[in-house]
Formats: sequence, structure tokens, C-alpha cells
Amino acid sequence: MKKNFKEVVFSGVQPTGNLHLGNYLGAMKNFVELQKKMECIYCVVDLHAITVFQEPQELNKNILETTAGFLACGLDFKKSIIFNQSSVSGHAELAWIFNCVSRVGWMNRMTQFKEKAGSNKENASVGLYVYPNLMAADILLYKATHVPVGDDQKQHLELARDIAQKFNNDFRNENFFPIPEPLIQKKISRVMSLRDGKKKMSKSEESDYSRINLGDSEDEIKKKIKKAKTDSLPIPEKSEDLKNRPEALNLLTIYSSITDSTLEKTLKEMNGKDFSKFKENLSDALISTICPIGKKIQDLRKDKSYLLKILKEGSNRAREVSEHNLNKIKEIVGFI
Ligand code: TRP
Repeated sequence: MKKNFKEVVFSGVQPTGNLHLGNYLGAMKNFVELQKKMECIYCVVDLHAITVFQEPQELNKNILETTAGFLACGLDFKKSIIFNQSSVSGHAELAWIFNCVSRVGWMNRMTQFKEKAGSNKENASVGLYVYPNLMAADILLYKATHVPVGDDQKQHLELARDIAQKFNNDFRNENFFPIPEPLIQKKISRVMSLRDGKKKMSKSEESDYSRINLGDSEDEIKKKIKKAKTDSLPIPEKSEDLKNRPEALNLLTIYSSITDSTLEKTLKEMNGKDFSKFKENLSDALISTICPIGKKIQDLRKDKSYLLKILKEGSNRAREVSEHNLNKIKEIVGFI
């Protein structure tokens, strides 16, 4: 990373439904840590959400719900910039410029598009196809240097790096955009479904038993953990012995992450126990962290005008930073 760029973190979360444990451990918890060390911008990416049709009322509700989730998890709107993407028009403007920098060949390599479009590619929205260019615009509009991302977004971040590089080359402005670095959490692998340790925990999986929602009650958490899939072997001593036991690995990883520990330490503490006993510890740990967050979300949900005010203030700050950069970008491109 070239030293002449100020360190800025950018990340985005799509407002497409209730937040769950995977969002918390895989993203939000890390966002909260990062804001202690760096300047951070956290965005509710509503423009990304509409690449797949959203009922307007649902979208509206989900933007506020995600904002409430940000705050309830501990994001500090005084320190970090918290806002929604569509209220800062620079995102869409820069995305257009990037549509013209990015290459069709690059787009065609994106695996997430292939997965999301499924077998009926002809019927997918054009927005879904160029979605990674918008994501590059989000990051580079603020000249962000660091992007916390999960595994599934690594390829999109690579593309953002390629776009930054090509823009700098094409317009002979070598140091204009920083080449953003991924921030990948080493401690935690992905949080997987409670029903299938090979599938990511997701809001789109049909069974609610597959995930812990941040709004779940104590009883729901207990029930879901009790029912979570495991195997009949006891907890091993070494992490190598979890290789072919994805469900066991998942629960132990969740426990390690929620208690701020490591898998090795958890195994030291728990080895020999059977899963029914361990599950009680896991439930307790989840309840003490997740339920207070759920309660805060509930309280914030009731105060719509407060949430709107936070977004408005955040958007004003985001607009200020981005306008300055966008003016320069337009000048570089040759616009008048
Ligand atoms: N595409 C990301 C996701 O679906 C969300 C996102 C949009 C994002 N813009 C971003 C993430 C910029 C990091 C940086 O999870």
C-alpha cells in the first residue's frame, strides 16, 4: 500500500432481510473493532439490493432494520459514517464511469453472478450483471484503502483493484486511486447453516432452524441450538480431527468466535465432552451476546425518526467526502 493514502475502511451490507449470526460474527463484530483503529464508512447498500426485485415497502423497512442492526451491534455514528447508498448520488455516477472502465471479459468471470442468475441468465437484471462495478464505485468513491470482506466477496474486491489500476493507467494518473486491500478475518471461517455444515448461514435458506437471527428470543436460541445438526462423536482434542465433521466444526467455531477465543483454546477447554453438554454452553454464550443486541434492535425499530436522522446525518458527511473526489474524477475523465 502506498503511504500517501489516508487509511479509510469501507464496507457495505445489503438491506434484504433480518440480520443473523453470520452477519454479526462475519461482519459487524469486526466493523466494531475496526472503528477503534481507523476511519470507517459503513453503508446500507440499497442500490445493490434492487438488482433483485424488492417490494418497495419491504425495502424501506429493511433499510431501517439494517441501520438499527448496525447501531445495536455497536457501530458508533459519531465516529464512523453510517448512511444508505441511494442518498449519495455519487455512487451511481461513479458506477457509470466504471461501467466504461471495466471489461465484459472481467464481468463474465464473476462467479457470484453465475450463482445468483442461475439457469435463467437471460432473465437476470442488467444491474445484477454489473453489480461488481457498483461495488468498486462504493469503495473508490471514498478512496478507501481497506475493505473487510467475507470469502464470497473476495473476487469482487479483486475486480475493484483491477478497475482502480486500469483507471489510473488509462488516465495516466498513477497514484489517483489507492488499490484497496482486503481485510479478511483469520480467526473465523464462515458461519455455516445449523442444518448443513457445508452451506453458509443465510437469510434465504427456507428453514428458520438453519440460523440464529439477531432478533431471536432466549427460547428460540435454545431450541435452535438443541436441534442443530452434529454427530455422535465427542469433542476431539485437535482441530485436524474436525476435518470431516463440518457441523461439529461449525458449532465449535461459533463458540470460539462469540467468546472471543480461538478454536484451539475451545478444544482444550471442551475436549472429551459430548455435544449435548457443549450445546448448553453454546446457548448460554449466544444468549448473553445476541439477546441484548436483539433487544436494542427492537427499541430502535420503534424510533423511526431517530433512525432517519442518523441516516441523514451520515449521508451528509458521506456526500461531503465523496463530492470532492467525484469532482476530481470528472475532471480527470474530461467532463466539464
Ligand atoms: N456486495 C456486498 C455483499 O453482498 C455488499 C457490498 C456492496 C460491499 N458494496 C460494498 C461490501 C463495498 C464491501 C465494500 O455482501
